[in-house]
Amino acid sequence: MAGRFSVRRSAAELASADEPIPVEGVAWTVFPDSAPDPLAALPVLPAAAEPVPGSTSFLATMASPLPPPSSSGNGANPLQTEKLLDAKVRLHRRLIEEINLQALEKLPEEEIRKHVQQLVSQYILVERLALNAQELAEFVNEILDEMTGLGPIEPLLKDGTVSDILINGPECVYVERGGILEPTAVRFKDEQHLLRIINKIVAAVGRRVDESHPLCDARLLDGSRVNVAIRPVAVDGALVSIRKFSKKPLNLSKLVDVGALKPQMAELLAAAVKARVTTLISGGTGSGKTTMLNALSSFISDKERLITIEDAAELQLQQPHVARMETRPPNVEGKGEIKQRDLVKNALRMRPERIILGECRGEEAFDMLQAMNTGHEGSMATIHANNPREAISRLEQMIGMAGLNMTMTSIRGQIAAAVRLIVQLSRLSDGKRRVMSIAEITGMEGEILQMQEIYKYVRTATREDGTVEGHFQATGIRPRFLTDLAAKGIKIPASHFDPSQPL
Ligand SMILES: Nc1ncnc2c1ncn2[C@@H]1O[C@H](COP(=O)(O)OP(=O)(O)OP(=O)(O)O)[C@@H](O)[C@H]1O
Ligand SMILES: [Mg+2]
Repeated sequence: MAGRFSVRRSAAELASADEPIPVEGVAWTVFPDSAPDPLAALPVLPAAAEPVPGSTSFLATMASPLPPPSSSGNGANPLQTEKLLDAKVRLHRRLIEEINLQALEKLPEEEIRKHVQQLVSQYILVERLALNAQELAEFVNEILDEMTGLGPIEPLLKDGTVSDILINGPECVYVERGGILEPTAVRFKDEQHLLRIINKIVAAVGRRVDESHPLCDARLLDGSRVNVAIRPVAVDGALVSIRKFSKKPLNLSKLVDVGALKPQMAELLAAAVKARVTTLISGGTGSGKTTMLNALSSFISDKERLITIEDAAELQLQQPHVARMETRPPNVEGKGEIKQRDLVKNALRMRPERIILGECRGEEAFDMLQAMNTGHEGSMATIHANNPREAISRLEQMIGMAGLNMTMTSIRGQIAAAVRLIVQLSRLSDGKRRVMSIAEITGMEGEILQMQEIYKYVRTATREDGTVEGHFQATGIRPRFLTDLAAKGIKIPASHFDPSQPL
């Protein structure tokens, strides 16, 4: 490969050269005349905008004696390891600072990769670094990630086993794998570096974060949901939370396979969705509400018109007739906000058969219940609560927030008339997400809303390693909506509700 580059110049020669190093096969001419060539500046290597302390030029620094090695070694020559790391950091910084990212980003990824690979190979030869092919490839990847992707977190975004990425300042990055949070070795160079990546994320959705707007919701190109909080609200440095978009979300039978619920429970839920039994999915943060909503939605008939309303479009409904809507935050002047309530009201004028509300959390609850009560049965929503009872009281509070003059009894009456089924989810201490309860709302008795549990998860013990032991159980109560199911020709065997039968 070395033969392709004319790099047999000394570092000093390179540092003083005023012409780019000729690199065969690099399509320098691909940029329009008006656009500066993003890479042309690189091989010239003028003094760095932010010079490395104690050095006059980049290459001079690279050629300068290296500091004594640290204790890390892993059997490899520690001096060499240190030298590599050091050179990598400097190369990295230099490439990122010098390259015109905007112009470069217009090129196809393969083209960028080729450029970067050639530049890195040159530097490595100049520096006389002994990188093997794999190390070179890794290094090129890191630089590409930095230029075109989201830098150090790019590998985590590509890692299919990671579901959440949580950044707590530049030096602390956690991920969630299989329901368990674990620290990673990923680091940002400093807070500026992290802020640069954050701005890249939020700029892509036309937003910005700064001291006067330190909070922001955004979405990555792949649909992953991002929340950003920077100083001054984030005390120890910028905080970023990323919920990765699952390209292949878990369906109901997969949820049964992973032990989130039993087949009998799944059968009842699927039947309820088919028969348009209005369902609420309740659970804490990250308990799997959206996943369950998505899984259940697959049982909605293809013939129905569905409208989804979300803050960040996460649902992936498979039906052909889906109209998706997303809320909009206020702009910098605090104007132009479109709330869930506006969208629910609007949805009613769009002739939906069902409305799917990503998360019910405020004043839109009232309009949602109205919709559920007026011909949009089978609508679904998720709600943040720790058990079905709490879900109901949260709904009561939310309807209270709508500022209507309603008594508690009439609020409860509305809820009892609208919602039939509550699926309660929980993320337990072992990281597993489970359906903790399936409960049916049966109506009102006086001022009291009546609810009965059909299935529950009974926790029996927690092992030392945190694993939760327990089992699913039918309570013996047969849901009243079985008659609705029967009317639609759906039969559920009585044994599904027999508490003496193992699920
Ligand atoms: N039963 C399950 N087993 C394993 N992983 C699951 C299960 N259910 C959901 N997940 C995964 O857990 C993560 C969180 O799920 P999901 O987004 O559905 O939660 P949520 O309750 O909607 O979260 P939030 O409150 O943040 O909206 C996702 O990565 C999802 O793929
Ligand atoms: Mg969710």
